[in-house]
Amino acid sequence: MSDWWKGAVIYQIYPRSFKDSNNNGVGDLTGITQKLEYVQSLGVDAIWISPFFKSPMNDFGYDISDYREVDPLFGSLDDFKNLLAKAHSLKLKVIIDQVISHCSNEHEWFAQSRQNRTNDKADWFVWADPNEQGGPPNNWLSFFGGSAWTFDDRRGQYYLHNFLSNQPDLNFHNEAVQAAQLENLKFWLDLGVDGFRLDVANFYFHDKQLRDNPVFPEGERSTVGVTDSNPYARQSHIHSITQIENIAFIAKLRALTEQYPDITTMGEINGEHSLDIMADYTAGDKRLHMAYTFDLLGDACSKQVVESVAEEFNQTLKDGWACWALSNHDVQRVVSRWNQGDAHPDFALAAMALLLSLKGSVCMYQGEELGLSESDVEFDDLQDPYGKPFWPEYKGRDGCRTPIIWDEAEAFGGFSEVKPWLPIDKQQLQLSVKRQQQNPSSMLNKTRRLVKWRNQQNALRDGEFTLLDLPKVLAWLRTSENQQMLVVINLTPEQAEVELPFANIHVHANSDFQPVLEGQHLSLPPYQVLFADVQ
Ligand code: BGC
Repeated sequence: MSDWWKGAVIYQIYPRSFKDSNNNGVGDLTGITQKLEYVQSLGVDAIWISPFFKSPMNDFGYDISDYREVDPLFGSLDDFKNLLAKAHSLKLKVIIDQVISHCSNEHEWFAQSRQNRTNDKADWFVWADPNEQGGPPNNWLSFFGGSAWTFDDRRGQYYLHNFLSNQPDLNFHNEAVQAAQLENLKFWLDLGVDGFRLDVANFYFHDKQLRDNPVFPEGERSTVGVTDSNPYARQSHIHSITQIENIAFIAKLRALTEQYPDITTMGEINGEHSLDIMADYTAGDKRLHMAYTFDLLGDACSKQVVESVAEEFNQTLKDGWACWALSNHDVQRVVSRWNQGDAHPDFALAAMALLLSLKGSVCMYQGEELGLSESDVEFDDLQDPYGKPFWPEYKGRDGCRTPIIWDEAEAFGGFSEVKPWLPIDKQQLQLSVKRQQQNPSSMLNKTRRLVKWRNQQNALRDGEFTLLDLPKVLAWLRTSENQQMLVVINLTPEQAEVELPFANIHVHANSDFQPVLEGQHLSLPPYQVLFADVQ
C-alpha cells in the first residue's frame, strides 16, 4: 500500500460553484472534468469533490437521498466515470465526500422508517417518544440552531437530526445501518475512487440512553466552530456525538478500504476536544488515515494561536495524521477571516506558505490559489439555510461559495452562460483565472511554484516538526532523513528583525519571497517567508 496521502496537497472542489458545463446556473461534473488540466497545473496530488449525489439540496448535497446516484443537476454516473478516468490520466487522485451520518428525509429509508414502529427500517433512525410535557426527549441541539429533535405526526415520535430537520440522523447502533452504509462506500470503491472525505466522522453514534448534554455556566461557550449567537455553543455535546462505539465502526470502514489498493480516508472532526479525538481516530493503522481539523478554521490569527495549535498537534497526534485547511465551503475565506480588513497583497501567499509547511496533509479550497476574499452576499441572494436564521450577525456560508471566475470578459465570469445560483462577485473579476494565468507574478502562478517546490522537499512533505521560540515570527524546523528545513513566517503587517539560532543556513532561492539574511540576522518584511536548509 502506498502512503501517497501522507503530506499530500488536496484541492477541494465545491461542484456547484466550480464550472457549469450545461448552463443551468449550477456547476457540474463535466465542468470539473473540463478544468482538470487547470487543477493539475497547481501541482496538487488529489481532488476532494464535495457531494454530487442525488439530493433535494436542502443543505446543497449534504442531504443525500440516494447514495449511488449522481444528482441530475451535476450530471450522470457516466459523467463521473469520465471525470475519474481523466483525473487518473492526469495523475490526480480522486477523493469523494461521504455523508453517511445522516441522509435526506427524502431518502427511501426515512420514508419507510416513519410509516410505523414495526416496519423493517423502523429502527434505522433515532426515534424517541416525547417527554412528559410532550416536548423533545432531551436538550440536544442542532448545529444549525434550535432543537435537534423534530416531531413526526405520522409516527407520533420525535426523530434526531444534528443538522437540518431535513437531515435525519441514522441509527448506527443498528448493525444493518452500518452494513448498508459500508455497501454504499463499496459501490464507489468498486468504481475506482481513491478515498473518502468522511463528513462529521465523529457524529455517527449517539448515547442510547439519550441523556441530556451538560450546559455551560453563563459566559462560557464551547470552542466548536459555530457563531456566538447559536445556542449550540452553550452545550457540551458529550452525549449527542463522539461516542465510544464510533471507533469500532471506523475500524470496519478501514478494513473495507484495505481490500482496495492505496485508498485514503479523511475524517472531518468537529467538536470539543477535537485534537484528542483526532489522535484517537488516526492512531495505528486500523482506523482513519487522516483527520481533518477545524483548528485553523476559526477567527483567531495570531502567533500564539498558530503556535499553540501546531505544537499541541505535534505533541498529541503521535502516530496519527492531520489534514490542515485554512478555508473550505463552511467558513469565511482566510484572506477575510485572518487579514482583518487589511487586504495586503502578500497575505494570501504567506497564508499558503503556512498551510504548506505544517506537519500533515493539506486541503486547499477552490479559489484559495487565486487569493480570493469572502464575497458579500446580500440577504435577498442568500441560499444557505444556516445563514438565514442568524443574519446579519452571521451571514452563513454563501460568501465562500460564489462561483469561480474563469474569464472576467465573459458573461457571468465564464462560470456559466446563465445567471448562477449565487451571484458573481464583481470584486473578484480582477482576480479571474485568465488574468492571473497571464501574469507571472499573480497569486495563481506563485501558488503553482510554491506547491511544486514544496512537494519536492521531503522535510516539508512528511518531516518531523519542531517549534522554535522566536519573537514576532512563526518559526519551526521540519526534519526528514536527508533534510532539515527552517521555516520562518511573518504573518503580521510589521517588519520583523530576528536573530536565528543557526550558523549554517542556506536560503532556498524562491524569488516570490523577500527574506533578507545577513549572517544570522533575518529581516522579514510583512507577510514574507524564509525557507532555508540548516545543517
Ligand atoms: C459539511 C457541511 C454540512 C454538514 C452537515 C459538514 O461538516 O462540511 O457543509 O452542512 O457537515 O452534513
